Amino acid sequence: MRNSIHQRKRVSLIGMHLDRASPVALPQQIAAQMRDGILRGTLPAGTQFLGSREIARELGCSRMVVLSAWEILYAEGYLESMPRGGVSVATVHRNAAVPPPVPVDTSHIAGPISQRWQSLIGFTYDTNWESDFSPGAPDISTFPFGEWARLLRQTSQQPDKHECLDLSAAGLSELRREIAGFLGAVRGLVCMPEQIVVTSGTSSALDLCSRMILDHGDEVWVEEPGFVEAQWSLTAAGAKLVPVPVDGKGLCVAEGIRRAPHAKLIVVTPSHQYPLGISMGLERRLELLDWANRNDVWIIEDDYNSEFRHQDSMIASLKSLDREQRVIYLGTFSKIMMPSLRLGYIVAPERFVEIFTRGRARIDVHSSGVGQRALAEFMRQGHLLRHLRRMRKIYAERQQALMTAITSYLPNDLSVAPCATGLHLVALFSDRLKARMTDTKAARLLKAAGLHVQPLSQNHLEIPIYSGLVLGYGRLKAEDAPRLIAKMAKILGAAKK
Ligand SMILES: Cc1ncc(COP(=O)(O)O)c(C=O)c1O
Repeated sequence: MRNSIHQRKRVSLIGMHLDRASPVALPQQIAAQMRDGILRGTLPAGTQFLGSREIARELGCSRMVVLSAWEILYAEGYLESMPRGGVSVATVHRNAAVPPPVPVDTSHIAGPISQRWQSLIGFTYDTNWESDFSPGAPDISTFPFGEWARLLRQTSQQPDKHECLDLSAAGLSELRREIAGFLGAVRGLVCMPEQIVVTSGTSSALDLCSRMILDHGDEVWVEEPGFVEAQWSLTAAGAKLVPVPVDGKGLCVAEGIRRAPHAKLIVVTPSHQYPLGISMGLERRLELLDWANRNDVWIIEDDYNSEFRHQDSMIASLKSLDREQRVIYLGTFSKIMMPSLRLGYIVAPERFVEIFTRGRARIDVHSSGVGQRALAEFMRQGHLLRHLRRMRKIYAERQQALMTAITSYLPNDLSVAPCATGLHLVALFSDRLKARMTDTKAARLLKAAGLHVQPLSQNHLEIPIYSGLVLGYGRLKAEDAPRLIAKMAKILGAAKK
């Protein structure tokens, strides 16, 4: 790398070697070589780089490749943005630095791996389920494990012989009936058990839908910022992802139409946008449905977390407005029970039920029969509703405690709005904080002090629109919130620009 020791002059990466035959994606290759230079000291703190366009020209790759490499290094805290544009090397303290992701060595399996999968398994996403602030983790300490264990034992000791051999790929009929009843009671969604296909959670449902609906290169609207794991399923199916911005009213439908008028599929989280937490306004919902109906576009509604409404009013699902059977509704037991259960469901438009059932039979046949039977009984005996009622109260208190702590300790740096449902809040950076640091830098500093939070920019596909922190409160004890947020304020306040 030329000029690497000159700090004032903008440095080029002209000597960098990119191996296009390698199974490691180009952004990962660039990031790995720059990280190596930073850690070895050939790219010292303060080194400024040429603009992404110039570097892309030098390396003979697209600008997006360079920007993606920089995003990786931002997230890890190796780079920071400069006040008048461009990037420079941050001060990296060896033990505070996020350990570089171990480059995934796919060389021994490179032959049979598709290019899509090379980039998917090489992708790193910083998350920590054990963190006090994990955005997706529910509290399992109050889960009625005794009842659950009893039902699992009972199901295993007295199995239905027919079920042991031949279970429908659509799922156990008793479970489908319980889910339909549960959706009516908890989400006000009227559906027939025959519309339900049991899955191994939302990820499995997204995988099934993506594989079965999309052809290679089909365009799909995804929310920007959005749910990265949904993007993985779509990418694995060969889709072309089209990021569509989200504003205060939800997905910007007009912008989606402008960016990809021939999209085949739209993936949305209308009741509780992930990660911003916004509920899509009625006008936008009708606009979306109307456009999708007129253009023969399918909509996947990921309704994760909506069971935890903290206020009396229920945010209706998009599916409940779906007169023309356009919406494929996805639900999961990962949050109301636990993620390792791996059970969820699709409420499918009629024409898709048979299609998805046959498709599932071609992949992994169905989800565990024992788990499905125990869950059906758990729901039938009222344990799930009781647990949900208890957790709603606990999560509402935790959300309130988190908001109060943020407004007390960080009133000038973070702004949070209450969210009617869910397990996380988004704390947006004030202009004052934005001028001092990026959210990735903030997350890195906090992580080094033991507070693992997610930077909002990590959920963007393009240059981030929003800067902030995604703060889960599912596992956060209300009494711990003031202490942890005071610690956060101290770290962010002490950080040098
Ligand atoms: C937006 C969103 N949808 C769905 C899920 C649940 O996924 P799964 O059912 O595969 O556990 C999550 C989990 O974190 C999520 O954040």
